Amino acid sequence: MITRRKMIHRGALGLVALAAPSKLLAQLVAKPGDPICRPTVLVKSAARSLAKSSPILTPFVDALRIPPVLAPAVRGKTHFYTLTMRAGLAKLHRDLPTTVVWGFNGLYPGPTIRATKGQPVVIRQVNHLPDHAGHDGMGAPLPAVHLHGAHVAPLDDGHPREAIPAFGFRDYHYPNHQRGTTLFYHDHSHGMTGHHVYHGLAGTYQIDDPAEQILNLPRGEFDIPLMIQDRNFHANGSFDYVLDTVAQETGVFGDRLLVNGVVQPHFKVAARKYRFRIVNGSNARIYELQLSTGQPLIQIGTDGGLLPKPALKSVIELAPSERADVVIDFGALPIGTQVLLKNCAACTGSTAALMRFDVDRTAVDDSDMPDCLATWEDLPISAQTTTRQFTLDRQLGPGGTSTWVINGQSFDMNAAPLAQVPHGAVEKWRFINPTNHHHPIHIHLIQFQVLELNGVPQDPSAHGWKDTLVAPPGGQITVAARFAGYTGRYLFHCHNLEHEDLGMMADYEIVA
Ligand code: C2O
Ligand code: CU
Ligand code: CU
Repeated sequence: MITRRKMIHRGALGLVALAAPSKLLAQLVAKPGDPICRPTVLVKSAARSLAKSSPILTPFVDALRIPPVLAPAVRGKTHFYTLTMRAGLAKLHRDLPTTVVWGFNGLYPGPTIRATKGQPVVIRQVNHLPDHAGHDGMGAPLPAVHLHGAHVAPLDDGHPREAIPAFGFRDYHYPNHQRGTTLFYHDHSHGMTGHHVYHGLAGTYQIDDPAEQILNLPRGEFDIPLMIQDRNFHANGSFDYVLDTVAQETGVFGDRLLVNGVVQPHFKVAARKYRFRIVNGSNARIYELQLSTGQPLIQIGTDGGLLPKPALKSVIELAPSERADVVIDFGALPIGTQVLLKNCAACTGSTAALMRFDVDRTAVDDSDMPDCLATWEDLPISAQTTTRQFTLDRQLGPGGTSTWVINGQSFDMNAAPLAQVPHGAVEKWRFINPTNHHHPIHIHLIQFQVLELNGVPQDPSAHGWKDTLVAPPGGQITVAARFAGYTGRYLFHCHNLEHEDLGMMADYEIVA
């Protein structure tokens, strides 16, 4: 019996035989069994565990890469960009053959967009992704680009209803009128987000607030985005994405960790403070970030921008799509010190550490670490505040397949919204998780405040503004937000991308 998995391998080996990249890309169009197709025939978990292991890759041999910052075309106050979603080739580790990626401008991760608060950005997204027609009837990819964490109009939010047809484009308008912060843009295809993001469709988008310059935080070459992800690889370098019954339940985990598209890079640093904007761009993996030296990470910001004051953290837990803005002070470390950014305290083997910082020079540090970073205001909550409740659950199908539901419903883009919120309202949303899985819940459009974790009241200012928060296994979270600025339909969902693709997503609507 030829399994789907063997077919994937065959297709992948076929690719290696081709020499010229352009030819290789041409082959990606409608090539049966190419390695970037989502199997609809599910591979049984036993077969999966036998085959699952990436090639051995020596850690810290490649230098960290920093994605290019795109230069806009400026017309008036507006900055215009064009990004083309297409296949590309990337070298992700010294010892790994070239990988075919799907990237914005063919890059993995995508280029960084740097916006300024108050200055609108328009991004034309062009869909030149290779067709997977002929593969299990999947047809052409229909991407929709979502700017995660952004306060934008419904039609600019990347709802899969507004997908971009093959060789079509769509202009996304971003007003950038929210707080300065680190966002990220990624594909939001209907039922295919996990597959597409895994193959590279994600990039960092920064909103700089000129008013924050007075804080004198590390900037320029000392202010660096780090997109952290995990991936499995075939021996030929291609991504190994398999949505078997195990992955349907846990999400797809990789056994290799990458930062900015490099497997476990090293980064030469000066003995001074650096600012790192960490984005968890993984499909399912939750990290417990910490430094091998035991020194704290100084967290200065979260999903929605700067915290009121810096927080010293020995560990930062970061779930898919959460961001942590951190300062690491290498200033007291002797030249030659190596500092690992660890995945968790007990992690061993290929997933023990994300990257290594090598302190290789002294430097004058002219940056500051102020005691106060931003003002804070609690949302007005009263006994009259509407509280909505959403239960996050799993439904088991034939053969152990999983469907994920919110209040019993699996995502259907034509279904009535699960909530209708009056424009301008502040509401409390409670997410109850009866499953034994983590569900990083993300609400589009708004930034929320954290009121309760497992029934324990929280100091919202300590959590900062958030757009994603884990509803822990067997637990619950309560958050509050003001739903304002636009009317229309937006999504909320689990940001474990496999849970999302398999139904743990719904529309809500803001009504006038
Ligand atoms: Cu980053 Cu709807 O997601
Ligand atoms: Cu989002
Ligand atoms: Cu989930």
